[in-house]
Amino acid sequence: MFAVYAESFSPDDPLNGLVVGERPEPEVPDASTGSGRGAWTTVQVKAAALNHHDLWSLRGVGLREEALPMILGCDASGIDEDGNEVLIHAVISDPSWRGDETEDPRRSLLSERYQGTFADKVAVPRANLVPKPASLSFEEASCLPTSWLTAYRMLYVQGGLRPGQSVLVQGAGGGVATALITLARAGGLQVFATSRDEAKRARALEIGAHAAYETGARLPERVDAVMETVGAATWTHSLRSLRPGGTVVISGATSGPNPDNTELNRIFFLQLRVIGSTMGTSRELGQLVSFLDATGTRPLIDRTLPMAEAREGFAAMNDGDVFGKIVFTR
Ligand SMILES: NC(=O)c1ccc[n+]([C@@H]2O[C@H](COP(=O)([O-])OP(=O)(O)OC[C@H]3O[C@@H](n4cnc5c(N)ncnc54)[C@H](OP(=O)(O)O)[C@@H]3O)[C@@H](O)[C@H]2O)c1
Repeated sequence: MFAVYAESFSPDDPLNGLVVGERPEPEVPDASTGSGRGAWTTVQVKAAALNHHDLWSLRGVGLREEALPMILGCDASGIDEDGNEVLIHAVISDPSWRGDETEDPRRSLLSERYQGTFADKVAVPRANLVPKPASLSFEEASCLPTSWLTAYRMLYVQGGLRPGQSVLVQGAGGGVATALITLARAGGLQVFATSRDEAKRARALEIGAHAAYETGARLPERVDAVMETVGAATWTHSLRSLRPGGTVVISGATSGPNPDNTELNRIFFLQLRVIGSTMGTSRELGQLVSFLDATGTRPLIDRTLPMAEAREGFAAMNDGDVFGKIVFTR
């Protein structure tokens, strides 16, 4: 079948190991004959969104050499074996695991242990299927399982934010960041954003930020929470932007994991809370879908490309030339 996959790793030039070609159809794990939580099925992919995770995989981060060749892609929407329109929850937990899937130490994301979504078909546990409402297109639905779910959990689960509170989103142009801005505004928050790029700051205002500033600029007021995915480049600013007792929620470190100043004194003296966040549960993905269905809020799509032109999308993300999600269609 048609597939976009990683053939090798290249830390400095991730597109080196990217192949747009053919791979065998996915093997459906043994439990497929069962009907319980462990049962697997296949989905015919209609749309799949690109994430920074796919670039990390090509760099050899989070993916083992023995797992190559590996079909990339965590996110997808498509049609299941019974003809239903579905989204796929990308967190694959152990069949014996009960409770929050993101806390399962043996969990993986699609394209880490099991083949990913940039293909004609993908095999997934039945428990990972979430119904797609008719109000969302396949392209919009494909944006939700990774960056949008991550943003939803950061704001409303780990961040515990309530309407009327204020939030700063760092690195406005990113896939997670645009989701954070849109979901925060739709949820009744006061939204500030930063970006290195003037045009991206203007776009941040269009999608819901109340104000947008240059990276590192002083805010007019301290905020209840900061949403961090940029890491070292913005960490100090994030902590300095919080009110006493405020919360920074971190789900990524694109610019590096070791900030020059960790601000430990500020953390204890101002009683700041530093909270990690990773993906979200299948239940939260269902809640996010309902949120969009009810509010009319939609993912911002930077561009839609036929999956055969995936290389162009990877290059744009690698160059930072993105505002919103890049979606591949089949
Ligand atoms: N834990 C999880 O479950 C989870 C889920 C999804 C993503 N992530 C992680 O979150 C991060 C963002 O993912 P994404 O898909 O949103 O990536 P992305 O679309 O590539 O966005 C990254 C954004 O970070 C900003 N940035 C990058 N380098 C910077 C620097 N040196 N200084 C200041 N800003 C910088 C840029 O914003 P501007 O150009 O606007 O300044 C850029 O748009 C990645 O590291 C990813 O692995 C984690």
